[in-house]
Amino acid sequence: MVQHLSRLTLSHFRSHTRIALDLDARPVAIFGPNGAGKTNLIEAVSLFSPGRGLRRASAQDMVRRPESLGWKVTGLLRDGDSAHDLAFLSDHGAARQVSVDGKPAPQVHLARLVRVLWLIPAMDRLWIEAPEGRRRFLDRMTLSFFPDHADHSLTYEKAMRERNRLLRDEVRDGHWYAALENQMAQSGALLTANRRAALDRLAQAQDGAETQFPAATLSLLEGEAPLPEAAADLRAALADHRGRDMMAGRTLLGPHRADLAGVFAAKGVAAQDCSTGEQKALLISLILANARALAAETGTPPLLLLDEVAAHLDASRRAALYDEICALGAQAWMTGTGPELFMDLGARAQYLEVTEREGQSVVENRRL
Ligand SMILES: Nc1ncnc2c1ncn2[C@@H]1O[C@H](COP(=O)(O)OP(=O)(O)O)[C@@H](O)[C@H]1O
Ligand SMILES: [Mg+2]
Repeated sequence: MVQHLSRLTLSHFRSHTRIALDLDARPVAIFGPNGAGKTNLIEAVSLFSPGRGLRRASAQDMVRRPESLGWKVTGLLRDGDSAHDLAFLSDHGAARQVSVDGKPAPQVHLARLVRVLWLIPAMDRLWIEAPEGRRRFLDRMTLSFFPDHADHSLTYEKAMRERNRLLRDEVRDGHWYAALENQMAQSGALLTANRRAALDRLAQAQDGAETQFPAATLSLLEGEAPLPEAAADLRAALADHRGRDMMAGRTLLGPHRADLAGVFAAKGVAAQDCSTGEQKALLISLILANARALAAETGTPPLLLLDEVAAHLDASRRAALYDEICALGAQAWMTGTGPELFMDLGARAQYLEVTEREGQSVVENRRL
């Protein structure tokens, strides 16, 4: 049975004052004018995954203004016979608190319960912008396969911040570095191994898949040379790099510097040189491949959040996308300005219309 949200409530979350939605496992097509609150709605769903959500916003930014009281999002996550009550809340913009079945839980725990993948318009420029966005995209896909990826990232980042502080303070005494570099090496080797394994799975999922979207050949760029596989070797490399890192005032070597290269496989053209439409198609293709791989591995496709995904697709591509999503069986939350964008979905989807009335978003169930 497909994992999906069967209920979603938002309270004082951005433009939404109070909404409660009952849903089934079908894709959710959301339409309404610009600024109505569609992206805000799927942003709330993106909080079901560890991290800052699809806008990378702080809990403070999500507080509904002008009241600025705090916000709450809840969801009932169904998967066959099992169900989990998830709740997220921020009191007056304080850091988000997570609870699972009524008990407080660390955010990273979410990665074990639910997978969420998204595409948003800001990612249209992913292939041509800075490595950070591609790295984040890669890590989100990696996290979907390996829930421990979030834990390793946290450990790595924390140790690296401390090491960077030593570097900036020009601390030269080696034993201050050793423990931090050991932590970075242990977690960093796991990050790299996870990323490589995720890319293998994506490649497999694209191989011979029946899809209208072009396959992307992905490779991991890890700096001047591939990063060492073994933690001990990474530790030695970090120790070796101290001098250069001190001159730079930060750590120059390690998985935090990795980048993702993509090639439009059938044409042999680098993703950054593809047309805008092709670049988008490659991202859609990867999200679908990721979802297929997860469905095969875990028995259920992930939740998909596809913001304005129909906008850049011609009618036949759009129909193909809908067919592939329905074949996957994913609860895909898709937004668009008008209902006509979703016509091809027909009874295969459920529909929500979002409008703005008197400064708040109103969400209504619709039939097409
Ligand atoms: N914290 C907030 N409190 C109240 N309104 C907000 C907040 N953050 C964003 N908004 C409003 O939400 C609206 C944008 O919603 P969005 O979901 O992006 O629209 P769209 O339907 O175009 O996707 C804007 O009118 C914006 O002013
Ligand atoms: Mg939007």
